[in-house]
Amino acid sequence: MGNCACIDSSARVDTAQSLGLHTSSETSKNSSKTSISSGGSSLTFPSSKGKSAESLPTPRSEGEILSSPNVKAFSFNELKNATRNFRPDSLLGEGGFGYVFKGWIDEHTLTAVKPGSGMVIAVKRLKPEGFQGHKEWLTEVNYLGQLRHPNLVKLVGYCFEGDNRLLVYEFMPKGSLENHLFRRGAEPLPWATRIKVAIGAARGLSFLHDAEVQVIYRDFKASNILLDSDFNAKLSDFGLAKAGPTGDRTHVSTQVVGTHGYAAPEYVATGRLTTKSDVYSFGVVLLELLTGRSAVDKSKLGAEQNLVDWAKPYLGDKRKVFRIMDTKLAGQYPQKAAYTASTLALQCLCVEPRLRPRIIDVLEMLEQVQAPKTASKTSISDHQTVSDSNRKSPSRSHRSSTDRKPTASSLPPLRQSSG
Ligand SMILES: Nc1ncnc2c1ncn2[C@@H]1O[C@H](COP(=O)(O)OP(=O)(O)OP(=O)(O)O)[C@@H](O)[C@H]1O
Ligand SMILES: [Mg+2]
Repeated sequence: MGNCACIDSSARVDTAQSLGLHTSSETSKNSSKTSISSGGSSLTFPSSKGKSAESLPTPRSEGEILSSPNVKAFSFNELKNATRNFRPDSLLGEGGFGYVFKGWIDEHTLTAVKPGSGMVIAVKRLKPEGFQGHKEWLTEVNYLGQLRHPNLVKLVGYCFEGDNRLLVYEFMPKGSLENHLFRRGAEPLPWATRIKVAIGAARGLSFLHDAEVQVIYRDFKASNILLDSDFNAKLSDFGLAKAGPTGDRTHVSTQVVGTHGYAAPEYVATGRLTTKSDVYSFGVVLLELLTGRSAVDKSKLGAEQNLVDWAKPYLGDKRKVFRIMDTKLAGQYPQKAAYTASTLALQCLCVEPRLRPRIIDVLEMLEQVQAPKTASKTSISDHQTVSDSNRKSPSRSHRSSTDRKPTASSLPPLRQSSG
């Protein structure tokens, strides 16, 4: 990818800082990622009467969104019962917008049932955040209430009662990709699983991008990729999703929201959003899968804190790439596949958005990485794995990622133009 210049992410972070964006972990789980103020204007969202993304454009009022036939309106009491009063031992995780609890409902009547029976759900309870939290909550109900795809998490319903805002999802037994890659003590993901996850996530993004009325996801990151019991990936968290450009427009102008380390540099700098912004974020996650390092790691020193900056010089180079591969893979990956995947990551991370591949092309490449079409022609070396003894870390301070905590942080809002 000779024509893909390297991102100078220190400049990117500086820009972000000068614009008032947080760059450390301090915001990651405790603050809202966005706070688009509409100045009291009425909220309208793309809509669909049917279930496909093709018919999303009609603006919908809050009432229309909430009366979607695909999602159930739960009462607060029902969800209280389903989660055993939001008991701490039902806690699945915490994000910027609140806590996620495990619960149980009857799969036909959708009423609360005894733990261990019926259907398992994940209930996200938003912290009271005021208007902004409400807007993202509503955006999520709007999109996930209409879009159905095997690689998008299913929204079962919501609760909107007084100050309470909750979302009810299908339960994803293997949790988030972030936990598998970075949580202390997590069982290392084998190579084949990593590629499977990348393919599932790319399918989800392709569905959004290739819909007649395009949807830009805007928050593609490891913590938003959830995994079922077979490691099928599903995208979650549609609170920041945005309708793509229409007519002759090349981009949508919007305020900068997203997560540091994952957001595309041109989007952070200008607020111009395209599907290629999602492709950049995909490249970052692909790098996380290859290296086992998180997008931003504050436990590292200087330039090493930013995964893209650290890894870029090694990508797309057959002789160097093995140096940045996750040590937890213990060399158990096909060399050619790793090289191809690293080249693909480099393409996704092109500074120039137009030079990034479309996500559908990324998907095709990953499918070839998974099952090369030219199997008969592949030489033995294509399937060779890298012995640990041959591996040389590019940095002496390269530690096992089990020692680290992911620190990619949410970007607080920046008012750039009409969001
Ligand atoms: N449907 C689900 N099934 C199982 N676990 C889930 C589900 N949804 C979320 N979780 C768990 O809850 C955690 C918190 O999710 P949440 O989306 O609130 O925050 P996040 O994505 O980690 O951070 P952020 O708010 O910055 O996006 C996830 O990392 C995951 O472990
Ligand atoms: Mg999330």
